[in-house]
Amino acid sequence: MTVTAKLSGLPIAGQGGDGDVPRHIAIIMDGNGRWARARGLPRTEGHRRGVDVVRRIVGRAAERGVSFLTLYSFSSENWSRPASEVSYLLGLLRRFVQKDLQTLHERGIRVRIIGSRENLAADILAMFEDAEERTRDNTGMTLVVAFNYGARCEIVEAAQSIARDVAAGRLDPAQITETTVDDRLYTSGIPNPDLILRTSGEQRLSNFLLWQAAYSEFLFVPDLWPDFDEAALDRAIGEYAKRDRRFGGVASQAAQ
Ligand code: IPE
Ligand code: IPE
Ligand code: MG
Repeated sequence: MTVTAKLSGLPIAGQGGDGDVPRHIAIIMDGNGRWARARGLPRTEGHRRGVDVVRRIVGRAAERGVSFLTLYSFSSENWSRPASEVSYLLGLLRRFVQKDLQTLHERGIRVRIIGSRENLAADILAMFEDAEERTRDNTGMTLVVAFNYGARCEIVEAAQSIARDVAAGRLDPAQITETTVDDRLYTSGIPNPDLILRTSGEQRLSNFLLWQAAYSEFLFVPDLWPDFDEAALDRAIGEYAKRDRRFGGVASQAAQ
């Protein structure tokens, strides 16, 4: 991996890792339903197995020196699924936080939740606040959980916040920069993802990190999420290391 252009405001690949390891990996964990269907099981069984994979991948990413791991756990569009599936997914999330938060904390992992907090159940909101608060001062990997997340909604909320400041006379439109927008996104303070990985063979973003993905590397793998494992994450990191990120510049060899 060669870093060829360190333009201001753009992420510096590998910063915080060993150079070939993405500083920030974001994963669209897809294929739970298909995994279950292929085995004649209910979709919920795929989700249950998917949580085991989450635990393994969090551990492996931290071992590999990844600084930020973002997991797309529930999109703002996923509410349109059958009520029974939605409530099962919410139950899994509650159990994951109740069972795993202490372990994550002991391992020095910092937790951030991104997504809209509007209209969330009070117990879920309180759980998110507790997870973030309790792990705030940890210095290990940051685990970013995208829940009730939709990138278009995120950008709309940022636009509303900017408009409010302009209307109140606190912000001059001429002073609006990319940083003004960055600072009002759910991901404020989190570097842009270096690698966006999607399992299950689908090749789309499904409303994930639209602004932040401007210069991300993309990797689409056929594995269904419940089949994904440490070796598959290592392969993805190996694939990332072969990419030449140019950020609009020229390849490092060509620059000489
Ligand atoms: C991903 O698996 C989990 C969530 C979106 C919550 P899916 O449930 O989307 O599985 P498929 O895509 O139907 O196989
Ligand atoms: C994206 O997967 C959301 C998550 C992985 C949480 P979906 O399965 O909801 O996406 P589509 O519907 O196939 O685009
Ligand atoms: Mg899916």
